This record gives sequence, structure tokens and C-alpha cells, in this order.
Amino acid sequence: MGSYTLETAGGGGTGRGRARYPPLSAVVVSTIAAFSAVVVFAILRSAYDDALSRTTTLLGHNLEPTPWHPFPHDKGRPPARAAFRCASYLSCLPPMAKPPPPPPQPAANASGGVPRRQCPAYFAAIRRDLAPWRRGEGVTRALLNAAQRRASMRVTITGGGRRLHVELYYACVQSRALFTVWSLLQLMRRYPGRVPDVDLMFDCMDRPAINRTEHGNGDPAAPPPPPLFRYCTTRDHFDIPFPDWSFWGWPETNIAPWRNEFRSIKHGAKARKWKERVATAYWKGNPDVASPLRVALLSCNDTSLWHAEIMRQNWEEEAKSGYQHSKLSSQCTHRYKIYAEGFAWSVSLKYILSCGSMALIIDPQYEDFFSRGLQPEVNFWPVRAAAAGMCESIRDAVEWGEAHPAEAEKVGRRGQRLMQELDMAAVYDYMLHLLDEYARLLRFRPVPAPAPAQQVCEASVLCLAGDKQRRFLEASAAQPAASEPCVMPPDAGE
Ligand SMILES: *[C@@H]1O[C@H](CO)[C@@H](O)[C@H](O)[C@H]1NC(C)=O
Ligand SMILES: *[C@@H]1O[C@H](CO)[C@@H](O)[C@H](O)[C@H]1NC(C)=O
Ligand SMILES: *[C@@H]1O[C@H](CO)[C@@H](O)[C@H](O)[C@H]1NC(C)=O
Repeated sequence: MGSYTLETAGGGGTGRGRARYPPLSAVVVSTIAAFSAVVVFAILRSAYDDALSRTTTLLGHNLEPTPWHPFPHDKGRPPARAAFRCASYLSCLPPMAKPPPPPPQPAANASGGVPRRQCPAYFAAIRRDLAPWRRGEGVTRALLNAAQRRASMRVTITGGGRRLHVELYYACVQSRALFTVWSLLQLMRRYPGRVPDVDLMFDCMDRPAINRTEHGNGDPAAPPPPPLFRYCTTRDHFDIPFPDWSFWGWPETNIAPWRNEFRSIKHGAKARKWKERVATAYWKGNPDVASPLRVALLSCNDTSLWHAEIMRQNWEEEAKSGYQHSKLSSQCTHRYKIYAEGFAWSVSLKYILSCGSMALIIDPQYEDFFSRGLQPEVNFWPVRAAAAGMCESIRDAVEWGEAHPAEAEKVGRRGQRLMQELDMAAVYDYMLHLLDEYARLLRFRPVPAPAPAQQVCEASVLCLAGDKQRRFLEASAAQPAASEPCVMPPDAGE
């Protein structure tokens, strides 16, 4: 929309096609006027962008690029407001060549039809996450405006789930914004015409921001908190978890879209039977992420004392050497695999669980959308936090597993099955159900976010992407669903 208005204004300024030729001086004057208007506009815009980046960085820790993100965007970091307008001529193309919706499934028998898939039990967390707005006044414009202070972007979906507008408030680290916007476009492609109209605020940084105690602590009489979507939350926050970018790929660390990554990890896992796996607990990652937990974990690096092997992942080195040593599919070598949160939740949880080793999860503080499906001693093994004897706890877990190999292997298998069920169909279904439930709480009818928001379509995302990002985006493109979304678990009634 914004670029369209600009173009027509520019086109009108040339004066071609006018019936009468104005005197030369008038042409010169109006040309100068038009030109200086452009200059003034450009100056205003860059001042506006500057002001934006200054005000947003004033807001706090969440807006600073986190310290372990050394990879610059290969097209440079665009100013926040320009990020999705990669070329002024690229107005949004018709929302992608849309294949016709799939034919309805043939009825399996005369009375019923195909029984629909039940959603995994953790989909029930959607209602818990939205509980503060389910009682009382719902999501109002005023609440969204309050959430904007913390958001990296505003997203509207309108037109019966066919138009996406994005207003960027600040540029997210790496390609998070690009991949998250892509994830929404793929949801729209997977379920044409089914995605509800929404208006939402999204933040792309790691840590939750809506402090529970500061926003009524769940008291029904208190005003509801600002609704803010992000990749994780905690029990002490009201942030609304949404699938993170890595499901569509993380080009900066060479981690493929989840669909491909799970397949290759599972393949790698098959190559090493439980008996052939090393009988110690293994962790490989980046300890330098301002995470006291990971620093403490380094002190458990002793195979004879703690049965633990802690290895350092240096992403910058890895990038230089072509990611030969960071392949996740060749890391299913140990019977026990440690998961340690970083600065917040870590995308590594799903890769660790995929190995079929028993996952030793160190007292997690953060939750992402699917980690609510974790059950202690069923599909993972809980390990005490650093302050409570973490190394001892790791040692005890390994010793228990070695004493009960069949049970330990089963815990590992159930963890892997949780990941098997977390296929992209489940990820999109989660997004759809979450947006559906959220849309029901809106107390106003969503309209396209006005300029400076941009309408975004697949072409504008691909055009902004660097070569590698583009490969990952294309590899993670969705197809229209061949079946209905899964059925939500029954409402327990909160
Ligand atoms: C046919 O429909 C009935 C009633 O909905 C259902 O109980 C039954 O399981 C269905 N049979 C098959 C083969 O799907
Ligand atoms: C939330 O705010 C309260 C009161 O300001 C503070 O004591 C608490 O530490 C905060 N919680 C988190 C998780 O930041
Ligand atoms: C952990 O110990 C092993 C074996 O002694 C060593 O190779 C490795 O570098 C150590 N890890 C860290 C993070 O220092």
C-alpha cells in the first residue's frame, strides 16, 4: 500500500500527458519543488528511522542484539521501517499462485467420514496462555497499543486470511523476522482462506517481557496484561508462545528446516543402537550466551566423576569450516543427552529429543509451545539446577539409566516420539488454533495495518533474503493441507 501511493505521486509529478504545456519556468519550479519534497521526505524518514532505533533501544535488554549472534545479514541490516520494502516497485503480488484447495476427503463410511486427528495434549496450553483475555474484556486496541512498546513488529492478517501486513518497529537479530513472517505466509498457504483475521504484536527477542506479578498475577479483577506473542514464556510471564523461526530453518547456523532436520537426525539415530552408544551424558553447545547455567555445566565435564562430556560449539569457527562438526545427525552417539537453557529457551531441545537418547533436562525456566508436552520420567529425565547439585544429579541420572537400561531406552524413545508427532502439520495446526482462539478474543474488527506497515507476500520475503536464506525459505515452503486441522483437546473450562 505504502509503495503504491509513493509511485503514483511520483508518476503524477512528471507532468507527461497533460493537455497544455506549462511555461518552462513553471516546470523548473515544480521539478525543484518535487525534488526537494523527495529530499525532505528522505531526511524525515531517516530521522524517523533514527528516532525509532533510539527509542526502541531505550526500552531495555530485550532490544539489544544478543551477544552470541555474530552473523551480519549479507545484504546489510536494513533500517527497521524499510525492511520489507526491498524494492519500491515490488508492490505485493497477488498472494502467490494459489493451488485450488484440496478436494474434501472421501467419506470413510456412510455414517461418519474420516475421523479427525486429535491434537497433541499440549495444545491445551493455548487456552491457558490466553486465559487472561478469556475472562473479562478480551483484547482491545488499547491493550495492543500497550503491547507495542515491547514488540518488534505488528502483524495484521485480513481479507479472510489472505492479506498480511507487517509494521517493523526494530530489526530483529539475524533472519528471525524474515522467517517468522514467512511462517505466517506458509500458514496462509497451507490453509487458504482459513486463517482468521487478526491484529497482533510480536516480539522476536529471546526473553519474555510481560511480568505476571506486575500485571495482576492472574487476578480476575485486575485489568488484562498487554498481549504479546514471542517464542517462549515462563510461569512468571504472560507472553504468548508461538513456534520459533528454526522450524523453517536457521541459515546462520546451517540448521535445516525442521522437516528435513528431524528426518536426518532420526536416520543418524538409527545408525547407532542403544547398546552401541557411549554410556555418558553429552552436551555440545555455546556456553558464552550470558547463561550462568551453561557456565556451571562446564564444571561437570568429567567422564569418570560425573559421567558427563561437555563440549564447546564455536559457531564462528563452524561457519568457517563449513559446519562439518556441528551436524546434528551425527550427534546421536551417547545414551544420555543434556539439555541446558541458554539466555532463554533453546531451539536445541527438539534436536536433542530427536536422537532417542534419554534427555537429561536441567530444571527449565522457559517454555516454548511444545515443551509443555514434556513429562518427567516419561519422555525425559529431570536434572537439578546448578545451585542444587547439578553435576551430582547428572551422575545419578546416568547411573539410574545404566542400572535400568530398558527403562532408560524407553524414556528416550518416548522423547523421540514426541518429536515425531511434532511434524510440520502439528506446528501449523498449533499456529492456526492459537490464532483462531486469539481472534475470538479481539474486541474489534481487524483492518490492514496502515502505512508505514507494508503488505508482505512470498515474493517480498524472498527478494529481501540473501542466497542462503532464500534456499532455506524455499525448502520450507508449505503445501495446501490435504486434511482438516487436528481437533483441539476438550476445554477443561478455566
Ligand atoms: C464409521 O463411522 C462410525 C460413526 O461415525 C464410526 O464409529 C466408525 O469407526 C467409522 N468406521 C470407519 C471404518 O471409519
Ligand atoms: C516481576 O516483577 C516483580 C515486581 O516488580 C519482581 O519482583 C520480579 O522479579 C519480576 N519477575 C520477573 C520474572 O522478572
Ligand atoms: C571437556 O573434556 C574433554 C576431555 O577432557 C575436552 O576434550 C573438552 O575440551 C572439555 N570441554 C570443555 C568445554 O572444555
